[in-house]
Amino acid sequence: MQLRETLPLLRVARPPAPYGARRLARCHSIEDVARQARRRLPLGARAYLDGGGGDEYTLRRNRAAFDELEFLPAMARDAARVETSTTLLGRRTPLPFALAPIGSPRMFHHEGERAVARAARHAGIPYALSTLATTSIEDVAAETDTPLWYQVYVWGDRGEAKEALARARAAGFTALLFTGDTAVRSDRTRERHAGLNLPSPRLRLRTLLDGALRPSWSWHFLTSETISFPNIGPPDRRSREKMPHMFDGTLRWEDLDWIRELWDGPILLKGVLRPDEAVRAADAGLDGVVVSNHGGRQLDHVPATIDVLPGIVDAAGDRLEVLVDSGFRRGSDIAAALALGARGVLVGRAHLYGLAAAGEAGVRHCIDILADELRTTMALCGVRTVAELDRSLIRQRARADVSYG
Ligand SMILES: Cc1cc2nc3c(=O)[nH]c(=O)nc-3n(C[C@H](O)[C@H](O)[C@H](O)COP(=O)(O)O)c2cc1C
Repeated sequence: MQLRETLPLLRVARPPAPYGARRLARCHSIEDVARQARRRLPLGARAYLDGGGGDEYTLRRNRAAFDELEFLPAMARDAARVETSTTLLGRRTPLPFALAPIGSPRMFHHEGERAVARAARHAGIPYALSTLATTSIEDVAAETDTPLWYQVYVWGDRGEAKEALARARAAGFTALLFTGDTAVRSDRTRERHAGLNLPSPRLRLRTLLDGALRPSWSWHFLTSETISFPNIGPPDRRSREKMPHMFDGTLRWEDLDWIRELWDGPILLKGVLRPDEAVRAADAGLDGVVVSNHGGRQLDHVPATIDVLPGIVDAAGDRLEVLVDSGFRRGSDIAAALALGARGVLVGRAHLYGLAAAGEAGVRHCIDILADELRTTMALCGVRTVAELDRSLIRQRARADVSYG
């Protein structure tokens, strides 16, 4: 039973200080926002947000790989007016990035997906809703007129995915992301140490003490609607207690053919790390791939996505749109990915930190930081449009003789 049900007084008590948009003024980078977020969140939510699979090699590698890239800027090319707009999946969009699909966002802020959808609308960028969203497809669609993408997980009961797709289509979602890197959920030691029990924390002494130290998060968590997964399964099974057990390992390439038949809009395969699988996705009639290692959260000891991106872009040719994610924390990271041939980037934690720090205002702040940094990087590289970002602008430090150009 949830604490909110045992303590009805919580519903009428005065909330502690509201979620703090004021502190955002002091946050000048995504890492600054991340520090605010970590201060607000209890241990379990922090572990879920920041943690990775296994020894977290890939989690670290995702960042370290950016440190090995260097720009070779072109000077004095009149980049006074920089234009960041581009086309993603056939639609014009003001920025070359979108918000990545995230399970259980209401763990980070009580408004969860609604806050993220409103921030995406403000910026006019696409937002991908997860199968493991904690707000329904229909409620998210009601919050925004920005392009919405639906992220599909398939497991045992394929009927669940079929029903969700029909709901997403009816609600006006424009594209699908099929996540292929999560046949089973990885081992996440950090989450185990924190005693994380998704989607709702187990009420132990430690949890209660931790919650007491974070009154704002706790009050909102305890007084808002119980966390559930309204987009999967029949209503009586939507508040499943053990999210990790949904992933049963039955994921197959044939599922993609089946999804292709069900959905007539664009489909992207998310989790690609090999050029041959990009080719296979193209052969299966998909529209694009997301080069992703799930933010270092699934199989550990896989490469950083920025390192495998060029090979996948080359294999995809003009058959697929190639998006990329995992480890992007700076607008300059986004510029580097575009220079290496990505059409766009998905940002995961870089918007979640904002959500956890200050709800919608926090997500907006993170989008603004990334957009400003991207514009500055482009101007300093002597580049006026996204299309002008090319491989001649990048080299790998460890192989100083090799530039990508
Ligand atoms: C807390 C959290 C939950 C996530 N849940 C999902 C999910 O439900 N479905 C999915 O395809 N990817 C999920 N991801 C992965 C993201 O979509 C994205 O690939 C990843 O966050 C990118 O790395 P970054 O966080 O370093 O930007 C999740 C990531 C995080 C951090």
